[in-house]
Amino acid sequence: MTPPLVLGVLGSGKGSNFAAIAEAIADGWLNAKVGLVVTDVPDAGILRLAAAHGVPAVHLPPGRFKTKLEPESEQLLARSLQDAGVELVVLAGYMRLLKEPMVTAFPRRIINIHPSLLPKFPGLAAWQQALEAGESETGCTVHYVDLGMDTGPMIAQESVPVLPGDTAETLHTRIQQAEHRLYPQVIADLAARRATFLA
Ligand code: GRF
Repeated sequence: MTPPLVLGVLGSGKGSNFAAIAEAIADGWLNAKVGLVVTDVPDAGILRLAAAHGVPAVHLPPGRFKTKLEPESEQLLARSLQDAGVELVVLAGYMRLLKEPMVTAFPRRIINIHPSLLPKFPGLAAWQQALEAGESETGCTVHYVDLGMDTGPMIAQESVPVLPGDTAETLHTRIQQAEHRLYPQVIADLAARRATFLA
């Protein structure tokens, strides 16, 4: 049996995507192991969920910026993930842009999930943007991370209908249900072809 793909999960929020990944691993259909969870928010829900799943988790102080890490913090982040043996970095609601230290340390080994059908609606509250634009369909996208905001090469998408009477909340909930199916499945596919994607 191929050894499990070692994941490093980065999150700033409640951690429902982390939970979906951890459950897929526990259910036995995702051949992976979460080596480390890292957050930039000291009281993020993802820390409690990591503890509940018995996964090591750390809060890494981000420094003085709001949308990116202090370069030294980002070096420390890369080193912490490497020390934990991480092969694939999974952004799960991580609210900071990654820069050179991470992208160089993990070339084509960082993925993100975004709550829209990219390239439509990059950036914040993408479900709200879709609702305000009067879309009849939106969804979620898993993509590789580059130095841009929600710009890296796409891996997979799942679409979700926008229903009459939807509010930002109901639409976001429906998109998150799709995220919880799509993200573990994409990681399982990458784990299954690890020999080529890690080459
Ligand atoms: C998700 O909607 C994801 O698309 C976005 O941030 C949210 C994270 O939610 N990037 P959670 O913390 O995984 O519940």
